[in-house]
Amino acid sequence: MLKRHLPMAGHTRGNRLPITCELKCGNACSHEAPNTSGNTHFRDVANAAISRRAALGLGGGLAAAVVVGAATLQKAPAAQAANGFHPTGGGKLPFEAIAPVQRTVDTVTVPSGYDWAPIIRWGDPLFDDSPEFDLENQTGASQAKQFGYNSDYLDVFSDGGNDRTGFLVNSHEYTNENIMFSPEYLKSNPKDVIEAAIEAHGLSIVDLKRGGKGQKWEYVRGGRRNRRITGSTLFTVDGPAAGSDLLKTKDDTTGTKVLGTLNNCAGGTTPWGTVLSGEENFNQYFVGTGAEAERRIGISPGPSSRRWETVDPRFNLNNEGYANEANRFGWIVEIDPEDPKSTPVKHTALGRFKHEAGTAVISRDGYAVVYSGDDERNDYAYKFVSRQKYRKGDKKHNMTLLSEGTLYVAQFNGNSPESEIDGTGDVPSDGDFDGWGRWIPLVKNDRSLVPGFTVEEVLVNTRLAADTVNATAMDRPEDFETNPVTGKVYMALTNNSQREAGGLHEANPIPGNRDGHVIEMTERRGDHAAERFNWNILFLAGDPAQEGNHAYFDGVPLDQVSPISCPDNLAFDSEGNLWVSTDGQPGTIGYCDALHKVTLEGRNRGLVEQFLAVPADAETCGPVIHDRDNSVFVAVQHPGEGGDWGAHTSYFPDFVPEGPLKGDKVAVPRPAIVQVFSTTGNNGR
Ligand code: FEO
Ligand code: CA
Ligand code: CA
Repeated sequence: MLKRHLPMAGHTRGNRLPITCELKCGNACSHEAPNTSGNTHFRDVANAAISRRAALGLGGGLAAAVVVGAATLQKAPAAQAANGFHPTGGGKLPFEAIAPVQRTVDTVTVPSGYDWAPIIRWGDPLFDDSPEFDLENQTGASQAKQFGYNSDYLDVFSDGGNDRTGFLVNSHEYTNENIMFSPEYLKSNPKDVIEAAIEAHGLSIVDLKRGGKGQKWEYVRGGRRNRRITGSTLFTVDGPAAGSDLLKTKDDTTGTKVLGTLNNCAGGTTPWGTVLSGEENFNQYFVGTGAEAERRIGISPGPSSRRWETVDPRFNLNNEGYANEANRFGWIVEIDPEDPKSTPVKHTALGRFKHEAGTAVISRDGYAVVYSGDDERNDYAYKFVSRQKYRKGDKKHNMTLLSEGTLYVAQFNGNSPESEIDGTGDVPSDGDFDGWGRWIPLVKNDRSLVPGFTVEEVLVNTRLAADTVNATAMDRPEDFETNPVTGKVYMALTNNSQREAGGLHEANPIPGNRDGHVIEMTERRGDHAAERFNWNILFLAGDPAQEGNHAYFDGVPLDQVSPISCPDNLAFDSEGNLWVSTDGQPGTIGYCDALHKVTLEGRNRGLVEQFLAVPADAETCGPVIHDRDNSVFVAVQHPGEGGDWGAHTSYFPDFVPEGPLKGDKVAVPRPAIVQVFSTTGNNGR
């Protein structure tokens, strides 16, 4: 069984299941964080303790509520009406927060007045000639025509002026071979398993249909936009590093054509209708040579976990002619979902690292801006600003915007005395973890701004370049999202087991940051292209009922909030409320991963209310909030990941433990796209 063959499966650092660590990110947390630049230790911190409650200057009633809440809170439904806070906040998707769900519960839990249903699952046939899903006969050829595995980034579109047709775009981050295939199949068909796994990566584009607004979507087999993009699909490369010697291999002497996209995690939809996807933990698929640039991105010598190098020599960088193959992954890719014949593009202008997000927005003066995190402990946050301006309605032109521009890395500066960042989570005496920041340019168009680095060196080895400019090491920057109402920018920092007490920073103030936090950023003059910003921590995640937690929600009484840990993907509803999905709650606060609504404006600012929970061992991904349409969508990633063949911990979404291994309903967990919809339809439209 693959799991038993994995040398590192079983380590227990960090907060994920061991098998998640192995397969999702190549045990990133079991190694030292690859940033050894010194930027992790931004400054030393003294030990003066400032009480958050006192420092906030709260009135007696509110301060008392905070203290009492922290001391007496039970693990109970959050957000009880009290102290002027209004549970659910009304709005277009009114709900009463659900109680957190114990980690072994194997279902999707939604609020009263809502129901859920899967739209599409791993293995569902996408094309008229797709084979039936058959676990014991999965091959690369069959998987290439079926919905992929481990759904992450998601967007759902209805066609303009038509409530009955639409499509979804979903990325498939990685594979869990030990619950995808029986031990016998793994042993007898190793080549088919690897080829199926390569084809289970990438993205799917799937047409949808339904009876009308507010109703449940169904996927359309044979839809005109249906497409699989996989670990073997042809991509072109553009931007300043295209054609560089650093990108050439024996199969591609031009350095402009790459087969496949890997570990596609968070993404974004552009204002011109294309989809961006971040290639995240691509390092784990390659056997390294021991070079420093490989170490900085996490590529190590020795056999890879999945052994893809045994089927395709390009996955071993030691093989003649393939030393640069890994340089061809780690990019933001752009896909036109409306044109299934289009060739997707890898944009070198946005740099190469463990990309997350790719959140695109148009600046005040018309430039395309893309925010992206580098999801590694002690790595950086980035922004790209296009050279050319966006032209409304001109998709052909707009699809060139990410080919040239300025790539920045973020530096966060605090405004409170170092002595007040004491690791307790208590707010500094000025009332906020906050300050200002700089976007430090690394590349401007085709010119390097980093001494000692050519432009292609900056773009291919972006971490090494950013190490030299005093960028701020962050606690695993994951998703970015911009608020459609206020224009503010939000960044999820999932956690950081290696945030050391000696390396605290006002923007990353918790040692061994187990639960993560969310930062709110305001670009100067409200201009997304600005080179300065202000920032503050919106919340420090945690379960207020647990001893030693650092939970802080901008002054909201702690007995009012839902417990939350490991914020990961972000989304907005039409009213400017932030929705936060989680990745890792089972291993930290002991609950199934969740989706929470966070109110940002008004008297309820900071209020966190849990909307749903995903099944056992799953991560909540890709939240999409269609509040004008009674619906919330999530991607349920790696359900049952902690189990094993024959001892599954989840049977989501078919729930047929004694069922067959082929056909429509099968007896294994299947990552799936879920629609949650109001059963009352009273969403205030
Ligand atoms: Fe794929 Fe950073 O989560
Ligand atoms: Ca401050
Ligand atoms: Ca994620």
